[in-house]
Amino acid sequence: MSDTRDAALKEIATLNDSAAQPQSQNGAERFHYPSQEVVEHANVTAYMKAKGFNAFDELYAWSIQNPQEFWSDQAKELEWFEPWEEVLDESTAPFYKWFVGAKTNIVHNAIDRHARTWRRNKLALIWEGEDGSHRTYSYHTLDREVSKIASVLKSMGVQKGDIVTIYLPRIPELMLCMLACAKIGAAHSVVYGGFSVEALADRMDDAKSKLLITADGGFMRNKVIELKKIADEAMARTPTIQSCIVVKRTGHDVNMESGRDLWLHDLMALPIASPNCPTEPMDAEDMLFILYTSGTTGRPKGVVHTHGGYMVGAYTTLKFVFDIKEEDRWWCAADPGWITGHSYIVYSPLLAGATSFMYEGAPNYPYPDRWWQLVSRHAISILYTAPTAIRGLMRFGEAWPNRHDLSNLRLLGSVGEPINPEAWRWYHHVIGKDRCPIMDTWWQTETGHFMITPTPVTPLKPGSATRPFFGIEVDVVHEDGSSCDANEDGLLVIKRPWPGMMRTILNDPERYVSTYWDKEPVNMYTVGDSARKDEDGYIWVIGRLDDVIKVSGYRLGTAEVESALVSHQSVAEAAAIGLPHDIKGSAIHAFVILREGFEGSPKLEEELRAHVGHELGPIARPDAINFVSTLPKTRSGKIMRRVLKAQALGQDVGDISTLES
Ligand code: WT7
Repeated sequence: MSDTRDAALKEIATLNDSAAQPQSQNGAERFHYPSQEVVEHANVTAYMKAKGFNAFDELYAWSIQNPQEFWSDQAKELEWFEPWEEVLDESTAPFYKWFVGAKTNIVHNAIDRHARTWRRNKLALIWEGEDGSHRTYSYHTLDREVSKIASVLKSMGVQKGDIVTIYLPRIPELMLCMLACAKIGAAHSVVYGGFSVEALADRMDDAKSKLLITADGGFMRNKVIELKKIADEAMARTPTIQSCIVVKRTGHDVNMESGRDLWLHDLMALPIASPNCPTEPMDAEDMLFILYTSGTTGRPKGVVHTHGGYMVGAYTTLKFVFDIKEEDRWWCAADPGWITGHSYIVYSPLLAGATSFMYEGAPNYPYPDRWWQLVSRHAISILYTAPTAIRGLMRFGEAWPNRHDLSNLRLLGSVGEPINPEAWRWYHHVIGKDRCPIMDTWWQTETGHFMITPTPVTPLKPGSATRPFFGIEVDVVHEDGSSCDANEDGLLVIKRPWPGMMRTILNDPERYVSTYWDKEPVNMYTVGDSARKDEDGYIWVIGRLDDVIKVSGYRLGTAEVESALVSHQSVAEAAAIGLPHDIKGSAIHAFVILREGFEGSPKLEEELRAHVGHELGPIARPDAINFVSTLPKTRSGKIMRRVLKAQALGQDVGDISTLES
């Protein structure tokens, strides 16, 4: 293991030229300081004063000496049916428990408690379709709609503890269905609408879902994505699904299997769809959702999150980092099908009683100013997106955003991969008019919420996620767990538990331990990223150490791409790597050994790319496929992807003494 990791560290140091580089040899003048006005009005400043501190650093120092007090302060702003006996139980580490003994339901805090105050009239969600249509939901309407779906689910036999798979495009029903599951104590497993047959089938199978919620289709660049057709194929590959609820979005003809498939609008018209469905009291540690994510090997991992700790973490981080105020209009431009959307489109904005905006389609459709038009039309005050989207829009030039009134913006955010300084500056200057601080938030599916991030009062350095959030302690360490020197590359680790941390991997607790806690350095959560810490304590994340490729900020495992490739009749063996790409960050390149009787050709290359797209999803489609006769392997038979990568980049292949000869 340590060999591989060592090699990976070296590889990343030499190959990852897209990573941001620390640039602050001589410190201070590189900082972007927040304005006095931002500092004065920030939520975090109010909390600092309430706790009697004069400086942010004092507050942070206190929070890591007293993390339980910090988190329980936050938890007390939310409602609990029963209080906790203990904030944190470490006795079963690394299976930590938070808010032990407490009872709550995240939906009670996200909807119910607002719907009984004046906020019932406040907009919870503003949605715009790619075709320009709009829908809005007040907290009152949201409550009714979620209740109706929840009642329908209950009457269809969904019970507390069941896992419902949701495979929907970016439409309000995605959010409504997630909340409806949580309300009745069922866990949701959302599969991103950009995934395809095999990915969906694997996830339904692993979760043993009996119910799937999907749509006839979704719109993207005015084309219909055939979600129901994909779902039909996936359902045919797994025996678990008994019923399938279908949301009508596109209105085109789809196959509806009688006895299995039901239209949501038909169900919602029945008396069973009661607008008064009780919210199920849940144990703080009960499962809220699972979300599959890619790792080094094999099938995706079902990351488990809970009602209690996750709720507190998501709520607290949005409040302090994006400084949510009653009058804000918040736009997290991710897809709800990824953790960013779960935490910062669905749950935390509602927990904060905020108004959230959601957009269905592509950023540059029909023109490259679509996003800027949306910011202006909906008076967005906080925009949170990924570097890949910024780079993608940047290439169309300044004229497009400059046509629109972006003056409501006050804060910007970035997530998913390191943001290159060029994109940072464009975002800051052209979009934020040098006025809006950029919150570069580092976190993962597994962490549930922001971990390393500025707040509006933090001096910024373009390309660094700055420093850990309150109550979070991180370090950059050597293989043996000792801290690295300033600006020395090492492993990013988290040194203590936090409330929104994953609790386990569904059906595979051993894999949870071995992936995150068992490796050297022990007793620290290993993140899987390499990073360095500069002389100011700022963290610079460099990239993944494992076989995870970040394509447009989306996380894909080489193993998944390879297994999709070898499921094609022509392929004997395959290896996938990520190579730097101007807009996507990384692009997938595959190396394929064909079976006897097949010959490489541009036609077969296209067929294989389409095959991966069909099995796994369009985001996983390799940019290029190279037909080869051998693959570099270690003597134990492991493919040496770093050698392929070095060769592809025309670089020194490094130490290949363990290569099979
Ligand atoms: C991996 C987690 C959690 C949001 C979406 C991604 C990379 C994430 C940053 C950032 C540098 C980042 C890391 C991490 N990453 N945010 N601000 N700067 N790298 O979640 O799909 O679970 O991926 O994304 O490599 O480990 P995810």
